[in-house]
Amino acid sequence: MRNQKILLTGATGYIASHTWLALLESGFDVVGVDNFANSSPEVLNRLQRLSGQAPVFEKADVGDAAALDAVFAAHKPAAVVHFAAFKAVGESTTMPLAYYRNNIGGLINTCETMRRHGCSRMVFSSSATVYGAPAPTDLPLREDAALSAVNPYGATKLMGETILRDLGAAEPDWQTACLRYFNPVGAHESGLIGEDPRGIPNNLMPYVAQVAVGRRAELQVFGDDYDTPDGTGVRDYIHVMDLAEGHVAALRFLLNGRESITANLGTGRGYSVLDLVRAYSAASGRPIPYRIAPRRTGDAAACWADASLANEKLGWSARHDLVRMCEDSWRWQSMNPQGFEKS
Ligand code: UFG
Repeated sequence: MRNQKILLTGATGYIASHTWLALLESGFDVVGVDNFANSSPEVLNRLQRLSGQAPVFEKADVGDAAALDAVFAAHKPAAVVHFAAFKAVGESTTMPLAYYRNNIGGLINTCETMRRHGCSRMVFSSSATVYGAPAPTDLPLREDAALSAVNPYGATKLMGETILRDLGAAEPDWQTACLRYFNPVGAHESGLIGEDPRGIPNNLMPYVAQVAVGRRAELQVFGDDYDTPDGTGVRDYIHVMDLAEGHVAALRFLLNGRESITANLGTGRGYSVLDLVRAYSAASGRPIPYRIAPRRTGDAAACWADASLANEKLGWSARHDLVRMCEDSWRWQSMNPQGFEKS
């Protein structure tokens, strides 16, 4: 396995940057590409500090076939982890064409480039969003639960999975892993890399982190009248380093075998918004002021994974608990209160 080179698209993003480190630690070589549409070049400096080696990186857009061709010709990757995509649910409803162009166009372009260079193993960043609005009877969510798209972002993930399934059926050389992420949170334990959303955070933990550090006055809790133990939404939060290790396991599975896989990456445990607020307050030693606001359109009451397939097939399971997720997020946030650019 040593010295096999893995290409990461969207390589300086939140999940990819943590996966980059996990891959280096597992003995893989990595080449990253990104166009910095939603990330900072400072990530590369941080990766250098953490790994003790200069990251191999090419600035490129996954929509640019000529640029990708040059990367493949120069680096000859054995497999690709395709992270590059837009990911904001709300934004996807106002800019659907941009989402379809980037997420679907980028995926097709990447696959076509891979094929031109004889590379046919891809790990794809999918999402629990493919379960649509899960019914309580569907919980915990198994991979064979009903699938649906409830917004353009979700449609791009569902279509991405469909494209890879159809490609594998048509061209048996292809082996792909669709990893359905639940709610990635936390940061590398060094505090040097983490999630750095631009503008107002869409997701709960980065918002809570910014309240704790004093960048935002209070959290709005979107609904306290759901049919859940405390009335607030329940999600399966997963530490980003566990998620990163899930990618390493999926790559080993693809490179050592002849099978494709679609698997949930979650912990199998659900926590409410208020559970997370309490845990974050304890980890940071800061109060998290909040007020109850109306439900957010499109939110499910509860969503958590049955993570047993990844355990059986990939030999992977999440190790970090909610306390650790909050502690690591807080280390990153307090060391970098304004994120990468201004720290
Ligand atoms: N929430 C708040 N206040 C906030 C933000 C979130 O109360 O300011 C609540 C939400 O209502 C929800 C929970 O916190 O109950 C988690 O919300 P997130 O936005 O962090 O995460 P979601 O589960 O809504 O979304 C995530 C991913 C999406 C993906 C979706 C379904 O961010 O990409 O899971 O898989 F589509």
